[in-house]
Amino acid sequence: MGKRQICRVDEVAPGASLRVELEGLPPLAVFNLDGDFYVINDTCSHGEASLCEGEIEDGQVECPWHNAKFCIKSGKALTFPAVEPQRTYIVAVENDEVFLVE
Ligand code: FES
Repeated sequence: MGKRQICRVDEVAPGASLRVELEGLPPLAVFNLDGDFYVINDTCSHGEASLCEGEIEDGQVECPWHNAKFCIKSGKALTFPAVEPQRTYIVAVENDEVFLVE
């Protein structure tokens, strides 16, 4: 397994998100939920919206286009019109850096 640096911890405040592009992967959305970091695909499974532009509340992100909600931890689509989950990734935090584990 390898690790790729995604961002620094201080680039994503608690309750916020950051859109990141890494070679060979679709755009990623990095979320900071009370100090825990999660990464899912940024592009909504229902359309082309960026989930980093959505509202974050109670561990969920709401798509800015049609208001589908996704669980940030599991990627699961919680409300219509989205039904397909967001892909999730394994994340590690070391030395104030956030890594994708592949
Ligand atoms: S593009 Fe996200 S719910 Fe439609």
